[in-house]
Amino acid sequence: MGQIFGIWDVRADRRDMGYYKGQKSRAKGVESMAKSEGQILARNTVGRLLAFHRDPLGTLGQIARDQGPVARFRMGAWAFALVSGGAEVQELLNKNGKDLQKGPGMDSKNPLIGRGLLVAGGELWKAERLAVQPLFDHQRLKTYGAQITHAAVEYRERFSQNAVPVSVDGDMLALTLKVVLNTLFSADDTSEAFQDISQAVQTVMTYFYKRSRSVVRFPYSWRVPGTLGYHRAADSVTQWMEGILRESPPSFLAGRLQGALPQDQDAVLQSALTLIMAGHETTGHALSWTLAVLAQHPGVQRRLHAEVDAALGGQLPQASDVDVMPYLRAVILESLRLYPPVWIISRSNPGPVAVGAEEFAPHTFFLVSPYVSQHLPSEFPRPEVFDPGRWTGDSLPHGAYLPFGQGPRSCVGRDFALLEMQLILATLAQTLEFHADLAQIWRPVPRLSLVPPKDMVLTVGPRESGGRP
Ligand code: HEM
Repeated sequence: MGQIFGIWDVRADRRDMGYYKGQKSRAKGVESMAKSEGQILARNTVGRLLAFHRDPLGTLGQIARDQGPVARFRMGAWAFALVSGGAEVQELLNKNGKDLQKGPGMDSKNPLIGRGLLVAGGELWKAERLAVQPLFDHQRLKTYGAQITHAAVEYRERFSQNAVPVSVDGDMLALTLKVVLNTLFSADDTSEAFQDISQAVQTVMTYFYKRSRSVVRFPYSWRVPGTLGYHRAADSVTQWMEGILRESPPSFLAGRLQGALPQDQDAVLQSALTLIMAGHETTGHALSWTLAVLAQHPGVQRRLHAEVDAALGGQLPQASDVDVMPYLRAVILESLRLYPPVWIISRSNPGPVAVGAEEFAPHTFFLVSPYVSQHLPSEFPRPEVFDPGRWTGDSLPHGAYLPFGQGPRSCVGRDFALLEMQLILATLAQTLEFHADLAQIWRPVPRLSLVPPKDMVLTVGPRESGGRP
C-alpha cells in the first residue's frame, strides 16, 4: 500500500530522469556504508537517496533524530520536509490538511484505483468520502461482527489437534480479504468465483508492487510480456465488481456510490475496488505482526487469554464485547505502534504552508512516517519495547501516534479495521496459542505496506491450558 500512499519509487523515478548517470563509483561506496542500518554516513543528496532506497526506515529515522520534529533535507534533486514530532504532525495533517494534496507518488493513472477514494482529490474525493462513510457507521459496523467472527472460527479450527509451524502472513491476508468481501460486498465465500477473485486480487496487488519497483514502466494498458497475468486478473476483478455493482436490488455500498456519482461509473468502480485493496492488506499484515509479538511475549499472551476467557465466558465474541476487553485493544494499539502497516504518508502543498515557526513554499514534498514518529524516544519512552501498558493508563500517547493517519484524509476504515482485528484476535485467543523463538528478530520490510519478512513462521496450536470454548 505504500506505493499507493507515497513516493517509494524514488529509484525508478530518478533513473527515468537519467539521474544515475556517472554515479556508479560513488554509489558503490555509499551502498556499503548504508548497510549499517539507520546510519546516514553519506551526507550528500545522492548518497542519502541511495541510503533511503536501501533502508528507508533507518534513513528517515536518523534524519528525524538528527534534525528534530521538522527536518528539511534533499534527496537527489528533490527537497523534502520530514515532519515527525507529534505536535507538528498534527499541525500539518489536521490544521493544514484541507490545503494539502496527496504526494506525487499517488498514481492517478492506475486504472483500478486511480479515481478511487484513496487517490482522488478535490470534489471527486469529497463525493466518494461522503458516499462511503456510512458503511463504517457505529451501528452498521456492529452488523459485520458475526461474519468476522465466523471467518476467524473457520481459521482456528484448522489447528484444533496439533501445533504446526505456519507462515501466518499469507493466512492473515487471506482471512482479511475474505472478511472485506463478505462484509462490505456480501460475497458468498463458498462459491468457486470467490476463490478466483481472492487469487486475482492478490495477483493485482503483487503487480502494483512490482511495477512500482520497476525501472521501465509501460502504460498500464499495454499487454506486454510479463503483464499478462496481471491483465487477466485485473479483467476478472473488474468484471466481478461490475457484476456486484449492477446487482438488483443494489447492495448498500453500490447504492451509496451509484447515488453519489451517477454519471461517473469509473469512479464508482474504482472506489469500490479501493475498499478491497486498501481494506485487506493493511489489516492482514497488522494481524500477522500482532500474532508475532504475542508469540514473543508469552506473559502478554497469557494475560490476553485470561481477559478473553473472563469477558466471553466461552461464548464467541460479538461486536459489543470489544468494549469489555481493554487489554485486547491495548495489545492491538501497541502492535500498530511498533509495526504501522502504512509506514509513510506523503503530501504536497499548492500554496504556502507553515508548521511551527517554519514556512514552506508551495510544492514542498512533505513526508510523515507513522513508523518513524511512533519510534521516537522523545514521544514514546523505550520505543522499541512492546508494552501494551502504554494504552491502559490515564495519559495515553497521542499526537505522534498515527497508524491510521490524521486529518481529512485519515483512514475511512479505521473503526472497521480495529473491530475486525479485535474480533479475530479474541476468537483465535480463545482456543489457540502462538509460539516463536524468543531470540528471533524479525525486521519489517517496507514495501507497499510494512510487510513481515518471509521467515516469520510461528508455531500455532491448541492452548495448552485447554482454552475455551
Ligand atoms: C490496520 C488497518 C489499516 C491501517 C493501518 C490503515 C491506514 C491508513 C492510513 C494511514 C490512511 C491515510 C493515508 C494518507 O493520509 O495518505 C488510510 C486511508 C484509507 N484507508 Fe485505511 N488503513 C487500514 C484499514 C483500512 C480498511 C479496513 C479500509 C476499508 C475497508 C481502509 C480504507 C482506506 C481508504 C479508502 C483510505 C483513503 C481515505 C481518504 O483518502 O479519504 N483502510 N488508511
